[in-house]
Amino acid sequence: MKATHAVVVGTAVALLAGAFTLPTASAATGSGGPGPVKKGSSARTLGELGDRAGVRIGTAVDMSALAADAPYRAVAATEFSAVTPENVMKWEAVEPTRGTYDWAPADQLVDFARANGQQVRGHTLVWHSQLPSWLTEGDFSAAELRDILHRHITDEVGHFKGKIWQWDVVNEAFNDDGTMRDSIWLQKLGPGYIADAFRWAHQADPKAKLYINDYNVEGVNAKSTALLALVAELKKQHVPVDGVGVQGHLDVTYDAPHDIAANLQRFDDLGLETAITEADVRIPLPVDSTKTEAQAEAYSVLLQGCLLTEHCTDFTVWGFSDKYSWVPGVFKGEGSANLMDENLRTKAAYTALSQDLKLAAGRR
Ligand code: G3I
Repeated sequence: MKATHAVVVGTAVALLAGAFTLPTASAATGSGGPGPVKKGSSARTLGELGDRAGVRIGTAVDMSALAADAPYRAVAATEFSAVTPENVMKWEAVEPTRGTYDWAPADQLVDFARANGQQVRGHTLVWHSQLPSWLTEGDFSAAELRDILHRHITDEVGHFKGKIWQWDVVNEAFNDDGTMRDSIWLQKLGPGYIADAFRWAHQADPKAKLYINDYNVEGVNAKSTALLALVAELKKQHVPVDGVGVQGHLDVTYDAPHDIAANLQRFDDLGLETAITEADVRIPLPVDSTKTEAQAEAYSVLLQGCLLTEHCTDFTVWGFSDKYSWVPGVFKGEGSANLMDENLRTKAAYTALSQDLKLAAGRR
């Protein structure tokens, strides 16, 4: 049974502080629809319900939307108790030109989170994607690349020292068959880049929780088993890895990962934290009621897996509004993957998560 986590959920009290001027909840209702910011006195946000159930409920945040869209900003501020930058902490964003950092958008999110009592998941330090072109086209030697990676981790983690709850130190290091991804890092530095990255991140911020994060590792399969073997080995070598992030990008045409609790338990048994870090459930368009129900069930399966695992610390959705989802741009003909539609009207999936959290809080 899950133990009590000490969690602090943001309140609307702090709404007007921070990097942005935020609207009141009543001004924030997008379409006049039953959006989550328009609640009766007994209603609770997902973040508040998560607090009672012992998990933080987070969202990825699109910084352009946060700056331009007041209703989006209000929901981001009130509904969640953690935030993850969707893009602005990635390497191409923070160091587009070698040696010249742009921390401003990421700093804005950190300020926003602080103003709203939210924790920040740092995403992500070592990845094969969204790297700056000076790096991918630089033709560096292995020794140079190792120095560049060391400096990147030291500078970025150092910049945010004391402000990041969990870092996704290494992202998507595996292929679906359990072999290691043939990234620039594996090719030039060998598999030891992973242990190095965790050690360097720990040196730069000893209090941040350090995660390895991946997709298609919700259930027990070749990829999650390879990840398990890796983190077991890292632990054996006293590498400072604290947690495993399961992204949770699902599709209603897949079977929901009903063995997720059994899978997460394998990591828990090693003494690691776990988290659902990027949940969304895409739908082949058009949407109908069967697909909407399947989506609600898939979200619920992910959350329940976390709620059943003692040291699963948070459940983060990869955005909450379909208006800003990455899905249609990547999966042609699919969409509607988030908890709310373009007008911030909640879907069955939102209700399902609320109910799961209420039930879990009642069991405590
Ligand atoms: O920054 C450029 C901007 O200068 C340009 O004008 C614009 C024109 O399209 O593109 C901008 O870059 C986009 C970038 O997001 C920042 O907004 C890229 O085109 C776009 O491909 C990129 O997509 C992101 C994707 O990661 C990249 O792989 C998505 O927003 C983001 O949701 C997605 O997130 C990933 C996680 O980090 C890791 N796990 C999977 C997840 C979904 O793919």
